[in-house]
Amino acid sequence: MAARALLLGALCASAVLPVHSFTSYDNDFVDPHYVLARNFNATTMLAQQAIISTAEQLATKGPWSVTFKNITPPSGDLHDYMSWAPYSWPDCSKAGNTTVLTPEQIWTTCPYVTRDGQFNPDARLVDDVGSFSDLADAVFYNAIAWAIDGQAAHAASAASFLQTWFIESDTGMNPNLNYAQMERGPSGQMGSHEGVLDLKCMAKIASGILILREGNATQWTADLDTQMKNWTTQYIGWLENANLAIQESKAANNHGTYYFNQLAALQIIVGNLDGARGTLDRYYKGQFLSQIAANGDQPLESARTRPYHYRAYNLAAMITNARLAAYLSYSAWNLTSSAGATVQDALNYAMVQSPGTESASEIYPDVAAVAAAYGDPSGTYASFLLKQAGTAYVEDPAFLWDQPLSDNGLVQVTPTSTPSFGAASSATASATGGSGAKTSAESPQDSGAGSWRDTGASILGAFVLAAGSFIYLL
Ligand SMILES: *[C@@H]1O[C@H](CO)[C@@H](O)[C@H](O)[C@H]1NC(C)=O
Ligand SMILES: *[C@@H]1O[C@H](CO)[C@@H](O)[C@H](O)[C@H]1NC(C)=O
Ligand SMILES: *[C@@H]1O[C@H](CO)[C@@H](O)[C@H](O)[C@H]1NC(C)=O
Ligand SMILES: *[C@@H]1O[C@H](CO)[C@@H](O)[C@H](O)[C@H]1NC(C)=O
Ligand SMILES: *[C@@H]1O[C@H](CO)[C@@H](O)[C@H](O)[C@H]1NC(C)=O
Repeated sequence: MAARALLLGALCASAVLPVHSFTSYDNDFVDPHYVLARNFNATTMLAQQAIISTAEQLATKGPWSVTFKNITPPSGDLHDYMSWAPYSWPDCSKAGNTTVLTPEQIWTTCPYVTRDGQFNPDARLVDDVGSFSDLADAVFYNAIAWAIDGQAAHAASAASFLQTWFIESDTGMNPNLNYAQMERGPSGQMGSHEGVLDLKCMAKIASGILILREGNATQWTADLDTQMKNWTTQYIGWLENANLAIQESKAANNHGTYYFNQLAALQIIVGNLDGARGTLDRYYKGQFLSQIAANGDQPLESARTRPYHYRAYNLAAMITNARLAAYLSYSAWNLTSSAGATVQDALNYAMVQSPGTESASEIYPDVAAVAAAYGDPSGTYASFLLKQAGTAYVEDPAFLWDQPLSDNGLVQVTPTSTPSFGAASSATASATGGSGAKTSAESPQDSGAGSWRDTGASILGAFVLAAGSFIYLL
């Protein structure tokens, strides 16, 4: 590879680098021990800065609460989480009305029909799902940012956002998903089992809590820890016993994969590590066995309307399951499906399929995660990322924990300044630039669950370089 050196010297605080956006899944888990050890390779410096910048941008958007929505759930209790099934459309021709109905009347009196893949934009009049996704990212990135630079503000943001969403009596969420992905109409005033997927971000929340807890953040008080465990225990009861949740636990495809990592993450939050191992064991001895064919295809995902997305999306959940398992000393990466294939085989298949009209970038986080877990002795994964995502991939926050991504050198960065723990201020990053941690600019996508929100993928923004100079050697 031709050597090329790019020197960015002493940029001032207002200098904004070109925006690089990367797909980031709502579902991920980072081992708190790795983050808290702070023994980061210098090649991750730009990723560290991207994390801090992302954390600061997200912190300006919070807090979030299910009680902030403008539409009241059928229970009459704003504290109930609520979302509407994204492909559900009213058919008022059979409603028998003689006058035009108000939107509220349509939601309850017109029968709703499913038009697969066609997103009904009014589903976002209720956006608890988007709020929860933003909350999870805010908690996740602020906890990691705190571990990186030790700034109390990051830990305080994460703690207070959790307090608002889960604990406060006036804003807290009831521990159930009885009204998630409601189909609406006369027979759709309860949630559907697919709605359980709405809380797929729980593994990120668990990561954030573990970092604050195990890192002894003073902002993570004993009282908050107790109350969070209390809420989580109650919600686990719902997730293990409610009919909707039990149906979701039996889903053969990505819904099943996500169900188990949500439950395992919650069990880790309450310290039930044996329970979490058992939960993941149910997945590996259940759905996992039928999810990967001998050639690495995921037939249940390939059969969908957007196969490239769905393969990448289920891979993201399988990766999170394996990361949770690793935290629990349960070795899962080498486990094979009934056909003898591993998660790596699934990735190897998915990454060489043509994306067609779909977004090729959805596979990048999976490629990086698999490269980190299994190694990349021939440089296949690093070359793929270099070719497809470019050298800027080292600015993806996930590059911090997808290590060692490669020894053949996706990129080598010679830092002159690294965010240092406990420094006076986060001079290395600023919240003023970039595209924001997440953008809704993407068009609605067929995810099986709906819009860009429900693909479980978001676009992480760029960051601002404030000081320091970096040499990329490629
Ligand atoms: C019934 O309500 C729908 C939705 O408001 C409206 O489109 C339709 O025209 C109404 N039917 C009559 C006969 O007014
Ligand atoms: C947190 O506190 C515990 C108990 O005092 C201690 O054993 C542990 O090393 C601390 N962890 C960190 C990351 O400081
Ligand atoms: C746990 O939460 C429930 C419901 O909010 C409450 O009634 C109970 O007192 C809490 N228990 C503890 C130990 O905080
Ligand atoms: C898979 O098993 C091999 C052989 O035991 C081992 O060397 C390797 O580290 C394992 N890979 C992962 C990702 O655990
Ligand atoms: C840091 O990353 C580079 C590039 O991948 C690698 O060559 C080096 O061995 C890594 N250093 C450590 C301490 O892991």
